[in-house]
Amino acid sequence: MLMLTHAVTTDVNLEFAADIREGLTKEQKELPSKYLYDEVGSRLFEVISVLPEYGLTRADERLLHRYASDIVARLPRRVAVAELGSGTGKKTRWILQSLCRRQKTSYYPIEISRTALAMCERELGDIDAISIVGFEREYLDGLLEVAARRQRGQHLLVLFLGSTIGNFERAAGVRFLREVRRILQPGDFLLLGTDLEKPIPQLIKAYDDALGVTAAFNMNLLHRVNHELGANFVLEQFEHMAKYNQQARSIEMHIRSNRKQTVTIPECGLTVQFAEGETIWTESSHKYSSTEVFQIAEAAGFSCRAQWIDHEWPFAESLLVAQ
Ligand SMILES: C[S@@+](CC[C@H](N)C(=O)[O-])C[C@H]1O[C@@H](n2cnc3c(N)ncnc32)[C@H](O)[C@@H]1O
Repeated sequence: MLMLTHAVTTDVNLEFAADIREGLTKEQKELPSKYLYDEVGSRLFEVISVLPEYGLTRADERLLHRYASDIVARLPRRVAVAELGSGTGKKTRWILQSLCRRQKTSYYPIEISRTALAMCERELGDIDAISIVGFEREYLDGLLEVAARRQRGQHLLVLFLGSTIGNFERAAGVRFLREVRRILQPGDFLLLGTDLEKPIPQLIKAYDDALGVTAAFNMNLLHRVNHELGANFVLEQFEHMAKYNQQARSIEMHIRSNRKQTVTIPECGLTVQFAEGETIWTESSHKYSSTEVFQIAEAAGFSCRAQWIDHEWPFAESLLVAQ
């Protein structure tokens, strides 16, 4: 077993400052959701994934556990695995164990969160016949590096689980999958997890739990901007909010200013005014119908080979093949 992490070498802080500046000067203020995952955020996300209100991760894991051998049986003999935004990779164990039973397997988690990547390497490092090489990268940069390591005759299985695709606007999600497809070769596979539509009150609770863990996860973004960019957000003067956007069929997380106030962010050279009730949009989680996944797949250059659905918490695992 080889464990080697390739870390980012670019100036991450400059990019963070530029993105925060851009987001907070829009009419609807926003912060990119990828910045939710610093060390605290990645650990809070792990807690969210076991909350009673948040059935998504359990549904995803039920499907992967139940159908791992069925999924693996549909793959070519020689296959390496790349995972986009692996998080801790806990659910991925079922696929990797099944693959490793038939062959030595290379697994490449791709993560912007160093904390998540380290947890992933620890979580899965005990599997027999696995070699793990983690990439601390953005999704597509990491996938390009993985593709460059591909051996002759070897196929790739890309995992995009946890309905992380839902964090993209619907059309941007298709564009993203098209980019993924461009890096792949015909006959490579993509296993895509998508959270399906369900009653709105159930969805709201999943993103605004009674313990306030999701609220802490969201508010941590302001804490991060304070800590890393020298801002003076007073956290008590903001609050977490989750709402359903009917038109977009997505749950949106926002941070609402509970008074008129001014915040300065020295590292961005920025002063931001907030009206009472004004929000910063931090994340969207789009919900899908199971058949919509076939259309998305086709529009991105894949076709759906098989789909498994969890009915307890409607969720779909779709095995797509690159055309
Ligand atoms: C919603 S979590 C899902 C984690 C895990 N796949 C699961 O299903 O539980 C999204 C993960 O993607 C990572 N991530 C978010 N944006 C990313 C990006 N642009 N490039 C690489 N990783 C990213 C985050 O750090 C986080 O661990």
